[in-house]
Amino acid sequence: MRTQVGIVGAGPAGLTLAQLLHREGIESVVLEDRSREYVEQRIRAGVLEQGTVDLLVAAGVGDRLRREGLVHHGIELQFDGERHRIPLSDLTGGRTIVIYGQTEVVKDLVRARLEADLPLLFEAADVTVSDLDSERPRISFTHASRAHELECDVIAGCDGFHGVCRPSIPAGVLREYSREYPFGWLGILAAVAPSNDELIYAHHERGFALLSLRSPELCRLYIQCRPDEDLAAWSDERIWAELQLRLGLKGWTLAEGPVLEKGVTGMRSFVVEPMRYGRLFLAGDAAHIVPPTGAKGLNLALHDVRVLAEALVSWYETGSSALLDAYSEASLQRVWRAEHFSWWMTQMLHRSDGGDDFGLKLQLSQLRYVTTSTAAATSLAENYVGLEQV
Ligand code: APR
Ligand code: PHB
Repeated sequence: MRTQVGIVGAGPAGLTLAQLLHREGIESVVLEDRSREYVEQRIRAGVLEQGTVDLLVAAGVGDRLRREGLVHHGIELQFDGERHRIPLSDLTGGRTIVIYGQTEVVKDLVRARLEADLPLLFEAADVTVSDLDSERPRISFTHASRAHELECDVIAGCDGFHGVCRPSIPAGVLREYSREYPFGWLGILAAVAPSNDELIYAHHERGFALLSLRSPELCRLYIQCRPDEDLAAWSDERIWAELQLRLGLKGWTLAEGPVLEKGVTGMRSFVVEPMRYGRLFLAGDAAHIVPPTGAKGLNLALHDVRVLAEALVSWYETGSSALLDAYSEASLQRVWRAEHFSWWMTQMLHRSDGGDDFGLKLQLSQLRYVTTSTAAATSLAENYVGLEQV
């Protein structure tokens, strides 16, 4: 088997890259180790920057997103028993965010790929990449009990944080930068109308909480917990009681409903540099992770593949590798901006154990500043909706 671009991983990064290349007449094969059902059901975040929406629409996969996505013009920050609105659109020349689950983005991309009858292989096992520093990198894998070898011009490693591509790069090539946080998020999806029109990020002495949503009938809610929190200790009643305490305000009630899904996610910041080795290009979570507080993971993954697709188009059209050679550096500019923003939001909103009162006072001062100074609010807003130029 032979293709132009071999893509490992059918998450948002791999699927969007395949779609962008297809629109430009470049062939690719997408290999995914999980099943279609698994990939389409995995619950992830749901805030799309305007640039992300524009990219999906331009790629021809934005119809349902435009119909069902919920356009938001602001978010709320809650601390010290009060809620403060950050008017994102007013502060950013009218830019907005759209609430649309990552699972829905993935479903739309999978459907587009399969309807166009283009290669997307689920349950591809034993994927290995080799000859990365040659002009003919290869991917070997097993599909439907048969061993295959795929010869490519380039390979895109879009296989997430736990994938095989990044570890296939020889030792000493990559430099890793990381930070672990001493907390995680316990998240639920609940069948109840959201009690607030906009997202609420709450700072509370018992720990951070977030009210988000997926649709007019579905809420997504999170509470800060330990990274190794035992879900078994959290009955639905206990989760709602904790949400009530952390999000509750006088004169406002959080409506409760059946819990459809719950899970715990750890939080980390992680970047590798460069995002390339020979003919292997890393994109999305394979190259970097952000804590979810800034809602940047999916947006960053899609920015990477936009830059990579443009570079590949230029290489095939002109023979010049200038843009491919610039891919890593160009992507990393935005990656580091999002890394900083996500770290900053995280440390401003989460409670650290050990009763660090100095830290607590700094958080409250920062929150007051961000909600009273137009300059500080604008900084938060432009990062949240996604900077146009980084
Ligand atoms: N072979 C083939 N596929 C693999 C392999 C492998 N060895 N290992 C992992 N995969 C697949 C995973 O099953 C997954 O479907 O690669 C895909 C990677 O997708 P994501 O983890 O969603 O990563 P990415 O596409 O970069 O999207 C980043 O996802 O994790 C969230 O918050 C993150 O929103 C961000 C977004
Ligand atoms: C979500 O809706 O899942 C969500 C929203 C905002 C975040 C993180 C997750 O910062």
